[in-house]
Amino acid sequence: MFKILQKEEMAQGTVVSNIVDAPLIAAKAKPGQFVIIRANETGERIPLTMADTDPETGTINLIYQVVGKSTALFKTLKVGDYFQDICGPLGQPTHIEKLGKVICVGGGTGVAVLHPIAKGLKAAGNQVVGIIGARNKDLLILEEKMTKASHELRVCTDDGSYGHHGFVTDVLKEHLDSKDPIALIVAIGPVPMMKFTCKLTAGYGVKTMVSLNPIMVDGTGMCGACRVSVGGVTRFGCVDGPEFDGHLVNFDELIQRQRAYLEQEKRSLDHFHSCQCQV
Ligand SMILES: Cc1cc2nc3c(=O)[nH]c(=O)nc-3n(C[C@H](O)[C@H](O)[C@H](O)COP(=O)(O)OP(=O)(O)OC[C@H]3O[C@@H](n4cnc5c(N)ncnc54)[C@H](O)[C@@H]3O)c2cc1C
Ligand code: FES
Repeated sequence: MFKILQKEEMAQGTVVSNIVDAPLIAAKAKPGQFVIIRANETGERIPLTMADTDPETGTINLIYQVVGKSTALFKTLKVGDYFQDICGPLGQPTHIEKLGKVICVGGGTGVAVLHPIAKGLKAAGNQVVGIIGARNKDLLILEEKMTKASHELRVCTDDGSYGHHGFVTDVLKEHLDSKDPIALIVAIGPVPMMKFTCKLTAGYGVKTMVSLNPIMVDGTGMCGACRVSVGGVTRFGCVDGPEFDGHLVNFDELIQRQRAYLEQEKRSLDHFHSCQCQV
């Protein structure tokens, strides 16, 4: 059992941040890794990236967008309540080394996944430029943390309510067009955002890593649910990833596979809202 020590609602309650007591995981986790979590004994197994870890306090920070039944159930848990189980750290850590100028691009809840990577890249001595975006100012998350994790941070909103009026790719293009060489781009967010970022950066030949979020079940390479095509080869998101070379990813196939259970997911959420049952 894993106790919830802090809870904060963000982005008008559509995103929740939990600090959870998990000393063994906090001691081992590295940027880019995730956990698989269940709210209760009959709960679905849900993968979530660790947005931060603190080995000294033995805590991990999970930040999730409330999109369906399981995340709606997580949101009902209060400070002092427990998650039934948390399995991790899982997945390959981000390969962090000193490269030079690195641009970290995040969209929506993807900023939570991006944050520990930007922090790690900065600590390794890279010049980190952060570019984060959201649909509007109220939905933007982790601006303060990303400011600390970057040497320079640009914020974008689709509706122009804050920062640059437009997409993260607009600001990224300004950097790509400048003479300053870019060693690496890390792009994490909704799949269409990652797809269009990679399309842009491919034209400039700048290596671009993305963190994929295929549907996962066991998270240990046994079920095959998380299959993704990378460079024409089938890879497992959970054990080979979640990070891959974005220029090789078949994003259209990923989008199609993510939508495989939309009808069942809608039915499950409707049932949860109608009876507030925990199963
Ligand atoms: C490695 C990894 C890390 C992730 N990290 C985060 C994170 O830090 N914060 C965050 O908000 N989200 C994260 N996600 C996505 C998160 O797991 C899904 O939003 C969550 O599973 C939705 O469950 P639900 O029951 O609330 O919604 P549902 O209504 O069941 O599903 C909504 C959508 O979420 C996706 N999804 C559903 N079940 C799963 C599953 N078992 N595995 C993966 N995706 C699923 C599908 O695309 C689905 O259409 C991550 C996913 C992966 C694979
Ligand atoms: S989630 Fe089962 S193999 Fe990756």
